[in-house]
Amino acid sequence: MGNVTVPRRGYIVGGQGFAMGKMKIFTGSDHAGLDLRVRIVGHLRALGFEVEDLGTPSAESTDYPDWAAAVGRAVRDQAGSVGVLVCGSGLGVCIAANKINGVRAADAWSVEAARLSRAHNDANVLCVGARLVPEAAAFAIVDAWLDTEFEGGRHTRRIDKIAALEVEEARHAITAQQLK
Ligand code: RB5
Repeated sequence: MGNVTVPRRGYIVGGQGFAMGKMKIFTGSDHAGLDLRVRIVGHLRALGFEVEDLGTPSAESTDYPDWAAAVGRAVRDQAGSVGVLVCGSGLGVCIAANKINGVRAADAWSVEAARLSRAHNDANVLCVGARLVPEAAAFAIVDAWLDTEFEGGRHTRRIDKIAALEVEEARHAITAQQLK
């Protein structure tokens, strides 16, 4: 996986080409994540990934759900794409992105967590906390995440249950609306 060294603990990982392939990556952040996001975008482009950077464009204070929604909806609408979101902690963008149907966002604070979020949870959006994770660690987390495949097997059943929850919740919301 390029020239970045990360521990491999039995996960399905790629060689030179990244296990997830050179898929399109949507990126976004609030003001707190701006600097790290810009650096991550440069890092990913240098690795040969197609990156569509959705903003925020400036350091002006802004609300993280807006950028989480933009990236989450882009990932939802473009099959095979993934997203990388950055805010101060990674938590806000993660909570917001997970409101979008089809998004499985993970706030990974370590290479191990990044690998697990792919191998077991098939995460399609990675969230990073710019105020909590040093840049070098963030790059290693992003690389590990992109270089780990979903393991399938018993994990597929669990992913299917997450998808079923989305359908059940949508039905519940419609029913609640109709009862008003
Ligand atoms: C912004 O100050 C900060 O709250 C935000 O970036 C994020 O950490 C929220 O979860």
